[in-house]
Amino acid sequence: MRKVLITGGAGFIGSNFVLHLSKAAPDARLVVLDKLTYAGNLENLKTLSEGANYRFVRGDINDARLVEGLFAEEGIDTVVNFAAESHVDRSILGPKDFVETNILGTFTLLEAARKHWLALEGGAEGKRFLHVSTDEVYGSLGATGLFTETTAYRPNSPYAASKASSDHLVRAYCHTYGLPAVTTNCSNNYGPYQFPEKLIPLMVINALKGAPLPVYGDGQNVRDWLFVEDHCKAIALVLREGRTGETYNVGGRNEKKNIDIVRTICSLIDERAAKDGRLRQEFPFEGSRASLIHFVKDRPGHDRRYAIDCTKMENELGWTPGHVFEEGIRKTVDWYIDNRQWWERIISGEYTEYYGLQYGGRLAGQKQ
Ligand code: NAD
Ligand code: TYD
Repeated sequence: MRKVLITGGAGFIGSNFVLHLSKAAPDARLVVLDKLTYAGNLENLKTLSEGANYRFVRGDINDARLVEGLFAEEGIDTVVNFAAESHVDRSILGPKDFVETNILGTFTLLEAARKHWLALEGGAEGKRFLHVSTDEVYGSLGATGLFTETTAYRPNSPYAASKASSDHLVRAYCHTYGLPAVTTNCSNNYGPYQFPEKLIPLMVINALKGAPLPVYGDGQNVRDWLFVEDHCKAIALVLREGRTGETYNVGGRNEKKNIDIVRTICSLIDERAAKDGRLRQEFPFEGSRASLIHFVKDRPGHDRRYAIDCTKMENELGWTPGHVFEEGIRKTVDWYIDNRQWWERIISGEYTEYYGLQYGGRLAGQKQ
């Protein structure tokens, strides 16, 4: 029975992964460690009950006593590290939390794994530390080219720099101490349970509410979009079969310009409203929602284009992204329409206070 510590398991990708693994590996014990920052939401995991296969612990990956206690008490043999401050815009407003969680937090986890696993007779046999990172560590691309696993790191935002730093620590622990670690660098994820400050959920919610759709700069920036379910399958595969010390790029082979994404979201909502009387009643709107699009001041240092070459995942592990964007975005828009309570709770009450005060966000219904 694997004993898996999943950090950040109440966030967007982490919770999708916990739900995926609870089905794909029903015999494993999943210990979720999450600080429940503004981005962590226990509602994402409400279908799981505490018991032999699942335990939730609220805490900080920077808390060495807590982390080491969990390694000892639970006999952790696998770590999947999702915990992070993850939003580029927030990192521009205040980078400190990014340094603390993304760099020092990863260091604390690595130290715990080193102490507990490498002190054992037989070394770290059968152990695995999977660090989840981003393609943003590679910097920005021009009109052509793709990021491969050998592309040099050139992080541009404080977020990307903090993730790059944590990747280097993981690499160094593997090289120096023989810690059995592997790193995945993925592109932009989308799908259910994504916190509504990121591009896709923000645009879906604002378009539903008839609020402005703020596109940064000229809207021509390109991201490579990965449906979260496909990402979870990739992580589970790397966990099982990835080679220690390697890094794997995980991408969707779905490059899209921001403006095209926003237009697609608008037409999907218009389309659904045309045939869904209840939706029309709940979110009345005259005309096309694309009229809500407006261009706003660009993000400072905004990376122009990201695109991942995931040939290594395909050739070595036989993984391919299962969703083309057109299919994934339709599922995502439907999910946000059908799970209104989930995001309404987030953008009201306790969340609004944090979100509004700290971020001064652009989400519908918030103080601008
Ligand atoms: P998220 O912001 O939705 O979730 C992060 C989770 O980590 C939250 O549940 C939060 O409460 C928790 N957390 C934050 N600080 C913590 C701390 N100090 N201790 C314990 N828990 C803490 O992020 P996400 O989008 O799910 O991203 C997960 C991982 O994937 C991150 O490492 C991120 O860098 C990486 N990633 C995300 C994307 C993306 O498109 N979302 C793309 C590439 C890489
Ligand atoms: P985001 O979801 O923040 O992810 P990342 O910065 O990690 O790529 O943003 C995705 C793209 O969308 C990015 O180019 C910035 C842009 N964007 C907007 O144009 N408007 C918005 O309101 C947001 C949040 C993002």
